[in-house]
Amino acid sequence: MTSPEKISLLTVRSCKAPEGHLCAVTAYDYTFARLVDQAGVDIVLCGDSLANTMLGLESTVPLTLDQMVHHSTAVARGVQRAFCVADMPFGSVQTGVNDALANCVRVFKECGVDAVKIEGGIRSAEVIRAVVGAGIPVMGHVGLTPQFRSMLGGLKVQGKDEESARRILADARAVEEAGAFAVVLEAVPRRLAALITSRLNIPTIGIGAGPDCDGQILVLHDILGLSPRAPKFAKVFADLPAEVLRGVQAYCDEVRSGAFPDDSHSFRVDDSIIEKL
Ligand code: KIV
Repeated sequence: MTSPEKISLLTVRSCKAPEGHLCAVTAYDYTFARLVDQAGVDIVLCGDSLANTMLGLESTVPLTLDQMVHHSTAVARGVQRAFCVADMPFGSVQTGVNDALANCVRVFKECGVDAVKIEGGIRSAEVIRAVVGAGIPVMGHVGLTPQFRSMLGGLKVQGKDEESARRILADARAVEEAGAFAVVLEAVPRRLAALITSRLNIPTIGIGAGPDCDGQILVLHDILGLSPRAPKFAKVFADLPAEVLRGVQAYCDEVRSGAFPDDSHSFRVDDSIIEKL
């Protein structure tokens, strides 16, 4: 998809491979949201991975709703063309349908995003149905769901045995039946992702799920080389740290040598004013 028009829910919802491959990436602030939008991604997700990338936390679980609102609002300001999604953090949709609905309404209204993302399959279906029913588009997220890492026994590939593969297929179906417009498949074997993709009418967006999904999503810090420990499935497409180091070291060198600031970076005042002082 490369059209200059704003990407709508209907465009995303109808994007099934092989006709289209949705290209999604995370962003957590206004500056990078503008850049990834200009680069032409279809979906920008303010993911709860901001707990790791922006706040230096080891897990996404402690992220608060206020922190998500803060970052998603900035992201939505920077995005013009792409479809913009905010992740619902752990605890914001787990304490009952009414709480979940109130929190999703808050995010949707305050942040100005186009949709929210909710982790979990069958266990989140009731909430997804209620949120969609209230008029808020929902992206699902099944397979490895980092918010449930304790239940899953850690951050590891899911769906490698029959029981787990059946559960993920059932989770994806439950999310579709509940009204989600797309579903993220995280860290599942390629052939399972291909099967789920062929069984669903909504697009699957893979992260560590192989090439047969209807779209792909990666964490921005992983593709720009900014993550200290990127997962095996991520690919580094640019060496941003090298460029940042080069720029900041050049700045320090010029400050220390007196080369910066020079006259062209200074303000002028009429000499007569200074002479009167
Ligand atoms: O928070 C996140 O980064 C995600 C991934 C699917 C990209 O949910």
